[in-house]
Amino acid sequence: MTATLTNPLRVGLRQERVITPQCLVIFGASGDLTHRKLIPALFELYRQRRLPTEFAVLGCARRSWSDEEFRERMAEALGDTVSENRAAWDQFSAGLFYEPVDLQQPEHLVRLSGRLDVIDRQRATRGNRTFYLSVSPTYYGSGCRALAGAGLLSDPKRTRVVIEKPFGRDYGSAQALNRIVQSCAQENQIYRIDHYLGKETVQSILVLRFANTIFEPIWNRNYIANVQITAAETVGVEERAGYYETSGALRDMVQNHLTQMLALTTMESPGRFDPESIRNEKAKVLQVARLADEQEPWRCCVRGQYGAGGTSARPLAGYRQEPGVDPNSTTETYVAMKLFVDNWRWQGVPFYLRTGKRLPKRLSEVVLTFREAPVHLFDSAGASPTANQLILRIQPDEGAEFRFEVKAPGSGMRSRPVDMEFSYDKSFGEPSDEGYVRLLADAMLGDPTLFIRGDEVEAAWRLYTPLLELIEDSPWQLPVHPYEASTWGPAASDSLLARDDLLWRRP
Ligand code: BG6
Repeated sequence: MTATLTNPLRVGLRQERVITPQCLVIFGASGDLTHRKLIPALFELYRQRRLPTEFAVLGCARRSWSDEEFRERMAEALGDTVSENRAAWDQFSAGLFYEPVDLQQPEHLVRLSGRLDVIDRQRATRGNRTFYLSVSPTYYGSGCRALAGAGLLSDPKRTRVVIEKPFGRDYGSAQALNRIVQSCAQENQIYRIDHYLGKETVQSILVLRFANTIFEPIWNRNYIANVQITAAETVGVEERAGYYETSGALRDMVQNHLTQMLALTTMESPGRFDPESIRNEKAKVLQVARLADEQEPWRCCVRGQYGAGGTSARPLAGYRQEPGVDPNSTTETYVAMKLFVDNWRWQGVPFYLRTGKRLPKRLSEVVLTFREAPVHLFDSAGASPTANQLILRIQPDEGAEFRFEVKAPGSGMRSRPVDMEFSYDKSFGEPSDEGYVRLLADAMLGDPTLFIRGDEVEAAWRLYTPLLELIEDSPWQLPVHPYEASTWGPAASDSLLARDDLLWRRP
């Protein structure tokens, strides 16, 4: 792993808020997320000098590690980042502690509570605690109950719970989980995380829309013909078959990440930039979003599953041949669908969402295609469509581009599309932080703006209910179409757009 150097420019560009003294308690500390994302993000915050001195991390899991063993394992996982920043790591890791805890054992909670009091005294963390549930989703409800039962959530000003995705498996289970967690803590203590909201470019959708006057007048059905939202990955299922087999692309990517991009693209302007105003608008728009055909959902959705592919030098296994995957699995690794948003702004504008693993490129983007000129005065020298497009590049190569027609050089009067471009890298000269850096800081600051509220998560699940029910009850109506690894998904997904005389963008 290589280190991202902390750029002194950051200090000038950013107005950082101050994190109060506190202890971050990570449940599931022996798991992947802790060493791949959470500890690297915390160490980055430390190197940016954004953590208070009175700070501690308490890792908790069932394994009986010591503090020292926890520190060593984290250091090992961070690799070069630690060896290149040894002195900083030594200081930071002095605040890492470990306690073996099984959340299902009440006596462990008593011990945990005692340990937290000791840490409060050692590190002056003043009883402020952020509990991070990075455990199996089946334990989210019982984990919250255990914390509440031990009195660890009783002070809404000093304690919070961060809950990883997936929050529920469908509308009903999300409602049930909401009821449990909301009986254990107040809604403003609950931080449902979606790491896409931590991405600078995802947040930038709001700034682009609401800090500029040129976009708002045209950001509606009168000017926008359709919107495509893509999250493409080159990786396959990796080592996560156990989880992915029970999830699939619809639950893993669409219900959360793509839906958040949809909400930010379509929501109305909030009256104020505060957590509740923003989340009200997101919840409102998700409540009026729907599948293009709710009665016959197979007409507006395509599922796919990658088969073998790649090159002779780098052959890629098909999904069913991946370790841990059922050889007859019907789990989708690709989904494409068409949605509508039934309000004055968006009525009739199709939104096409797609995501897949083992596609040819890693890229996430939102593409707004504007209506074509009513009269075509000029021949186009470029590829169709000649409509203007605004492309919000979420990752990689973060930025935005606006495509418009100019006169192609020469004696005739032919038009040709060109791009006006903004690149984060070129403009700001520094890579953006990993999403978890921002989200962990916000959770510890007590700022829930970039976290999903209970009604929002329910609205997001409700939107996909007809599809989830169909997959459950009559999966043959929504079969998984095979596609070769490293291609842009099954042909059926092209047909979904072809029916509307459109093509997917092939960046
Ligand atoms: C996670 C999914 O939430 O997002 C993964 O569980 C996926 O399957 C990942 O690979 C993609 O995130 P990113 O930030 O790499 O686009």
